Amino acid sequence: MKYADVRGLELSTTSTKALSAYNKSIAANAEYRISASKYMERAINEDPNFTMAYCVLGYYMMAAEAMAPEGMARTCLESAEATNLDNVTPRERASVAALRAWVEGRQDDATVIWERILDENPLDLLTMQLLHYRCFWLGKKESIRDSVSRYFAHWDPSMPNYSNVLGMYCFGLNENDDSARGLEYGRRAIDLNKDDLWAVHAVSHVLNDQGEQYAGISFLDQFDKTWVDRNSIREHLWWHEALLWWELGDFEKTLELYDHHFAKNITPFYLDVQNSASMLWRLESVGIDVGNRWMQISDAAIKRIDYRYLPWTDVHVAMTLGRTGQKNELNGLLGLIQDDKVKIRNARMYSAFETNSAVCQAISSYCSGDYSSALDSLLSVRSDNFRPLGASNVQRDVIAMMAGIAALKAKEYATARSVFAQRLEAKPSNKMTWLFYADAAEGCGDRNAAKNARAMATTILGAKA
Ligand SMILES: [Fe+2]
Repeated sequence: MKYADVRGLELSTTSTKALSAYNKSIAANAEYRISASKYMERAINEDPNFTMAYCVLGYYMMAAEAMAPEGMARTCLESAEATNLDNVTPRERASVAALRAWVEGRQDDATVIWERILDENPLDLLTMQLLHYRCFWLGKKESIRDSVSRYFAHWDPSMPNYSNVLGMYCFGLNENDDSARGLEYGRRAIDLNKDDLWAVHAVSHVLNDQGEQYAGISFLDQFDKTWVDRNSIREHLWWHEALLWWELGDFEKTLELYDHHFAKNITPFYLDVQNSASMLWRLESVGIDVGNRWMQISDAAIKRIDYRYLPWTDVHVAMTLGRTGQKNELNGLLGLIQDDKVKIRNARMYSAFETNSAVCQAISSYCSGDYSSALDSLLSVRSDNFRPLGASNVQRDVIAMMAGIAALKAKEYATARSVFAQRLEAKPSNKMTWLFYADAAEGCGDRNAAKNARAMATTILGAKA
């Protein structure tokens, strides 16, 4: 006898206890709970022939990108493949194939399989999440949204985890410049479930991208922010709050959140490296002395060199190696990225590695004081807002800012002015951008524009609603 999950998707298990643990695991995972893996292990213990439980546990391992995840995930994959795949549903069989593609580094292939699974099974929440997140890291902008939009009509508010679908849609719309509609979905998601941390995260992105820093801080303040039993999304949400303070020019508060919340225990987990390095880079860009904090990231960053999955993590490893003066290690990383470019046959991934190579090379030049070369490298790949690197608009903003500051330091004032003018058009409530724009205008000899820009900057902190 076969059972179905809480959304009616058939599962090839004969154990009600295994099914119960499976459902709990998917629900826990939807709220970023660490306990999701434990529940899935329990499902396997209850039914050692439960194909989908092995597969999902493998997915969890891959998504966590822990050290050597492919080793742990491969064990899950082999266990799933050792079950009787002739006796499972096409959805389950395809899921195992997707896990194999992912484990073998064929991320694009995995996303194509997940899309086909969703075409047939639009209520497959976990597959939708996997597709949504992987498209995010792969820089597939439209697909971040369309991983939801294609299937949204099949969902209704009575279904378990409807909020998760709304939260994903919010995020996808925002990344595709439809933040107003995104906010509507995001707020509905949180009304349904305040524990839906992806929806909380999505609304944080919207408010940041809309330049509503104080609204973003107030929004996050409605939660107690301890977020027990959660993975690193918790630290990433603290990072979002710190970023809002940085944009307002309150660096003391930014550093307080850095030290006490999102960077107090930096592990080699990719989000830890990204959150901490990107914030230190931003702080140094505005002249803040960050002390020995780069060294505290160093061990974690070096460990990521041997376990490279995302161009966006490489960028932060490069920042850390550059700022700690580890030239040999940085050159080693640049060599590995160059190798990626040579080996890859997928045109989209080639673009990702090409952008990655240029940006990491720029970081190396920047950290050596060769700002002209850094600028040249960055400008060579800046079209589409460095999109091939993956991640979000607001995360990649650190690279656009780097281009502007490199231009300032290289005395290429006209280019600096254009970079910061573009940023101001997108977000006039960013105090730091006004100050950089003022420096660029001053360099261009336009003292009037510089004076006006500095006057604008002074209004930002007083703008609290
Ligand atoms: Fe984020």
